[in-house]
Amino acid sequence: MSNTARHPRQILVTSALPYANGSIHLGHLLEYIQTDIWVRFQKSRGHQCYYVCADDAHGTAIMLRAEQEGISSEALIERVSREHQADFATFGVAFDNYHSTHSEENRYFSELIYTRLRDKGHIATRDIEQMYDPVKGLFLADRFIKGTCPKCRTADQYGDNCEACGATYTPAELIDPVSAISGATPEVRSSTHFFFKLPDFADFLKQWTRGGHVQSQISNKLQEWFESGLNEWDISRDAPYFGFEIPDAPGKYFYVWLDAPIGYLASFKNLCEREGIDFDAYWRADSDAEVYHFIGKDIVYFHALFWPAMLEGAEFRTPTAVNCHGFVTVNGAKMSKSRGTFIKAATYANYLNPEYLRYYFAAKLTSRVDDLDLNLDDFSARVNSDLVGKVVNIASRCAGFVKKLGGGKLSAHCTEPELVAHFIAAGDEIAEQYEAREFGRAMRLVMELADQANTYIAEQEPWVLAKQEGQEQQVLDICSVGINLFRQLMVYLAPVVPAMAEGAREFMKLQSLDWESRHDILLGHEIAKFKPLMTRIESDRIDAMIEASKEDLVEEQKLKDAPKGPLADAPIADEIAFDDFIKVDLRIARIAKADYVEGADKLLKLTLDLGGETRTVFSGIRAAYAPEALEGRLTVMVANLAPRKMRFGVSEGMVLASANDEGIYLLSPDAGAEPGQRVT
Ligand code: MSP
Ligand code: ZN
Repeated sequence: MSNTARHPRQILVTSALPYANGSIHLGHLLEYIQTDIWVRFQKSRGHQCYYVCADDAHGTAIMLRAEQEGISSEALIERVSREHQADFATFGVAFDNYHSTHSEENRYFSELIYTRLRDKGHIATRDIEQMYDPVKGLFLADRFIKGTCPKCRTADQYGDNCEACGATYTPAELIDPVSAISGATPEVRSSTHFFFKLPDFADFLKQWTRGGHVQSQISNKLQEWFESGLNEWDISRDAPYFGFEIPDAPGKYFYVWLDAPIGYLASFKNLCEREGIDFDAYWRADSDAEVYHFIGKDIVYFHALFWPAMLEGAEFRTPTAVNCHGFVTVNGAKMSKSRGTFIKAATYANYLNPEYLRYYFAAKLTSRVDDLDLNLDDFSARVNSDLVGKVVNIASRCAGFVKKLGGGKLSAHCTEPELVAHFIAAGDEIAEQYEAREFGRAMRLVMELADQANTYIAEQEPWVLAKQEGQEQQVLDICSVGINLFRQLMVYLAPVVPAMAEGAREFMKLQSLDWESRHDILLGHEIAKFKPLMTRIESDRIDAMIEASKEDLVEEQKLKDAPKGPLADAPIADEIAFDDFIKVDLRIARIAKADYVEGADKLLKLTLDLGGETRTVFSGIRAAYAPEALEGRLTVMVANLAPRKMRFGVSEGMVLASANDEGIYLLSPDAGAEPGQRVT
């Protein structure tokens, strides 16, 4: 392989854009870690390689989620983007740019690609009939319709398939269908939709998918799809929809999956503008730069058919390759919330070092589409024996002697030039495995080298020699060889465990651990004091993580059950008569005094002046208000509520406030209201 810095390649790499309505979990991380390792490897080799991603921010699910939380879609995607980026940073996933599909760049490219396709006749329109929720005023995707399975009669099944008997059907076939959003009975309505004429690209796609751009497992699957025929793809959705309006089609929006892959272009464009990179050099039809998309097996159809066809039709270059991986299972089964194996990135990181996971995934990854099992026993055994037992061990055995016998300096000569040369030469084969995404093979080669290094040290027994007179130089020589071998290993492992590699780089006082740097042998070189670079996995940490993941589930359930914010779709309560309303005696109250309540971190104790009468009320508003800020303020209270005995005293009424994710909002009357006045 001669494709190092002398012939730098121009490479653009993407991972799939995570949806902006959920947390990153270990399943996602397989993809981002796989991609990040490959990117770090390319950068280490001296290539120009950019890694971009973004949040996939559009669609009905995100719109409804925001509504449920009582916040705007924009506020939701803003918050989730911050969470996602924090999780990625924790796991060492180093994007060159992280953007959003809800961005101006993405609007621009979506419109551009759409209009180019339309002008060439690749867009059709026709009316289709669909289920419509008359209460929400919303067309319903299949998964938003529930009903009784027409086959086995199990209740509460989704609109396209039955979880009990596995039958597939259309929502119209469901018995007693209801909208999962409002509970209303859906009606069938007709509306005009826009379609991308995928069959126009059948010949192109047949060629493209056999042209080495996808793995053989995928290309076989695609041939099956070709045989059953390509269909036109519905790319529009009716308002209300969180997305981009289609040019010249008011009230029609691009379906989220239309603008999602275009988000790859948008994120890269955003990077290009910031750093002065030539966007067209990567994306014009005759570009000789390389473009790789890493994705999971569930989204192949979008990336291996729709996306290349869209690019081809709009006169952009098509991807060099779409690299597809399988799904993560935990202990041999699908990740499960109730078993605590649906593990969020943030939960994992509270208990375990992210680099354990990076190494374990690397050790098990191949270039194929097969699923990857995270077996938690194997995980800790593998990390402890390989990273800690084999690799770190080399440095920790040698460092002390270098400090003591060489004053922190390695020998000025190398007594095992052949062994070191063998380690350097191995870099070529390891690089080939990385390049081919055969990370498991690469890790095996590295651990074989680590075994050889440990064998060398064990045979030389420096600790025995160190007890003998006059053997100091020999001990220093052996340990200097050990440190040189360790350095080679860290060059090879750096793409997988970047934080550990950074610690190793500092320990060896090196400028870099780039692939080429391995060629200079460290002679007479000073090293720093050794600090443990990685510690063993303790199995009780794994147990604690599983328990915490079960608790995450409980938290989520609470969120779902919680009273909704003002914009939420919690239905308005049943109608009441005026006579019922007037029974509630609402009064203007002045907050005379506000105090913390010891042992209650949500409550404030309020002393309320009702113009002559005083009441004590415990109110759950502490998160939003300091007591001093409330004193003197007017609010509204329920004055005839039956007193309630609480742990801290008796609460004689209630003050009125509203709450959502962002805060608590105490009601106040306009200026001039007097304490004790009735509110109606
Ligand atoms: N938003 C779309 C992708 C749009 S790309 C233009 C999407 N988002 S996702 O959040 O559901 O998934 C993001 C990536 O994570 C996908 O490639 C998906 O295959 C991958 N994974 C999600 N769960 C996974 C596992 N359990 N295991 C492995 N990968 C998984 O799809
Ligand atoms: Zn059924």
